[in-house]
Amino acid sequence: MKKLEKEIIRDIKRLRKSRRAVILAHNYQLPEVQEIADYCGDSLELSRIAARTKARIVVFCGVHFMAETASILCPDKKILMPDISAGCPMADMITGRQLRSLKHRHPQATVVGYVNTSAEVKAELDICCTSANAVAVVNALKDKKEIIFVPDRNLADFVSRRTGKRLIAWEGFCPIHVKILPEDIKRSKRFHPRACVIVHPECSPEVIALSSAALSTSQMSKFTKSNKAKEFIIGTEAGLIYKLKKDNPSKEFYPATEMAVCADMKRTTIGGVLRALEELKYEIRVSDKIRRRARMAIERMIQIL
Ligand code: 13P
Ligand code: SF4
Repeated sequence: MKKLEKEIIRDIKRLRKSRRAVILAHNYQLPEVQEIADYCGDSLELSRIAARTKARIVVFCGVHFMAETASILCPDKKILMPDISAGCPMADMITGRQLRSLKHRHPQATVVGYVNTSAEVKAELDICCTSANAVAVVNALKDKKEIIFVPDRNLADFVSRRTGKRLIAWEGFCPIHVKILPEDIKRSKRFHPRACVIVHPECSPEVIALSSAALSTSQMSKFTKSNKAKEFIIGTEAGLIYKLKKDNPSKEFYPATEMAVCADMKRTTIGGVLRALEELKYEIRVSDKIRRRARMAIERMIQIL
């Protein structure tokens, strides 16, 4: 480790303690950011940790909608993002106004929204979901006749197949996961015939059809620990491989493609984490009006699972 890096880590540790801060990192973050974090996890786990933390300050190493979710759940805490420009292109594919207009066209529909949405969109939802619980959330709505699902069309398709429910889906998608093609899975399988294929439900239905399981990032982590396979082909953002290798040193992990890298997730650096703790920025706040409505949708989700 370079001297500067050592000093940055030492200063982060010192400030984290004196400022009573907690550092949360999504599973796609750079290895050194995952290493300095108090907790790494998927969107559901990080929302849960944010909801119950006793820390005064939360440094959120992820993308904007994740920090907003933490701010909605903990309005009394300071939520900091080391790089304010880290967004989620899929979350930007639907606005509050567009969702209001869709709701207007389907006034009887229950509205389910992926956590990958802005706070303004969450304020329009009946219930939120993540990739880890989307099937369970829609199953819990079994007596509802009409369900709107936004913004990810691939997650909507996956949930619809698993629950047998027809969903009114928005045409959003993750530009990173759609880079993973069926040909990538087939080619990887030829090179690694004994490997088990696991993918994220943001992948296309054709890619999911070639997999053994479609799982959230933390579910992938649990699956690879408990599964007896020694090799895995991973169909998600490349950053997860670091965690999978660390947790399973005797197993092999092959990315389905090297192309699936989320530039937004890589914006956060340990230097940025240190600056966030030193200068207490960039603070993410959601207005009270939006927060109160968005919180209900997130809390309904947390109550289901
Ligand atoms: P997870 O909740 O599965 O970690 O996914 C978040 C995400 O942004 C996937 O692209
Ligand atoms: Fe958004 Fe896709 Fe990046 Fe996840 S991987 S944060 S869904 S752009």
